[in-house]
Amino acid sequence: VGGKRLRPIMMLESYRIFGGSEKVIEPFAAAIEMIHTYSLVHDDLPAMDNDRYRRGKLTTHAKYGEAMGILAGDGLLTYAFETAGAAFSMTDAPARVGRAMQVLAQKAGIYGMLGGQVIDVESEGNPGMTLEKITQIHTLKTAALMESALMVGAILAGASDEQVAQMEQIARKVGIAFQIQDDILDVTSTQEVLGKPIGSDARNEKTTYVTLQGMETSESEVKRLSREAIGMLQQMPGDTEFLEELVRMLTMRNN
Ligand code: IPE
Ligand code: IPE
Ligand code: MG
Ligand code: MG
Ligand code: MG
Repeated sequence: VGGKRLRPIMMLESYRIFGGSEKVIEPFAAAIEMIHTYSLVHDDLPAMDNDRYRRGKLTTHAKYGEAMGILAGDGLLTYAFETAGAAFSMTDAPARVGRAMQVLAQKAGIYGMLGGQVIDVESEGNPGMTLEKITQIHTLKTAALMESALMVGAILAGASDEQVAQMEQIARKVGIAFQIQDDILDVTSTQEVLGKPIGSDARNEKTTYVTLQGMETSESEVKRLSREAIGMLQQMPGDTEFLEELVRMLTMRNN
């Protein structure tokens, strides 16, 4: 099971929807996958979720030791911004590249993915979890990076501030639905299909959407959020059919 490369695909599509057709998007597409991969390498560390398999292979720390897991993640995060920096010399609109780098950093950082991981770890074993808290964790740890994917594509293509904000809202719905589905699969799937162990959330005493709301409500929430995201995509200018189909497929994904 290789990685799905969802975030670069979303970014490239968002860029295309708003009329972008240059190579300036490519360093950013590579950068977001590096940031995502770093987040997984660190998420699997013994001090965090302590998982030994990812994408059908031993995790970095399981194969190369914990220190190398930490350092590989650090390396990927740093190399992401080195790579994105190459975009400055590939465009006549360097201000857009600057804005895109800022969004990418913000959504990955303490007000985004990283902040979500902090609350996720802090909440382990907490019996008083609420739906609001779970949604906050999903919004930060998972949706934020997807928000940056759609926003960076739109920004680099020259979309308006309002359009960028709408893409952010769409990605938020997709991201929350994606994480609810991830929590469902952690209960219902198999390691062979997922490429990562199931039961990781229970072992780490995570309250998830599924433990709080039950399987049926979780499944209908994935569908509701995805429908809303597709409805918003249909309001956007340009050909959004591919992204709509991607969102539809994600609600039915099994890995
Ligand atoms: C896994 O993301 C981590 C979550 C946010 C649930 P993906 O399911 O996109 O992982 P890969 O890249 O395809 O392995
Ligand atoms: C992690 O959520 C989201 C990240 C930011 C890495 P999970 O811990 O549920 O992701 P998996 O199930 O290990 O891929
Ligand atoms: Mg985790
Ligand atoms: Mg995990
Ligand atoms: Mg999970």
